[in-house]
Amino acid sequence: MLSSSANGSPRSAPIPSLAIGPLLDSHQHDVAAMLRESLDAERAALELYKQLLHLVEGRAIALEEFARQMIHSEELHAADVDKMLRKPGEIESFSARLTPRVINASSVQRP
Ligand SMILES: [Fe+2]
Repeated sequence: MLSSSANGSPRSAPIPSLAIGPLLDSHQHDVAAMLRESLDAERAALELYKQLLHLVEGRAIALEEFARQMIHSEELHAADVDKMLRKPGEIESFSARLTPRVINASSVQRP
């Protein structure tokens, strides 16, 4: 947003950086590998939103609602990716076939 200085010339707010953060690409181009990576990202996001919900529950209704909506959204995303990882005709969850992995949200790289 522009504002005016004392002499009437326009003065702009600080301009955000256009720098690109670190890329999260693992350089694996196999579709199944990319889907597994995507599923990990969805799970990590889900874990972070659950942590947010835990932090704001009973303290900030708007943030609580936001966290719940995002948890709902991330659960749907993870379910969609899980379906894409199944072979045609399989009904068992792809995730259920895996050895449970501990998802450490703090290890997720952020841009
Ligand atoms: Fe997502």
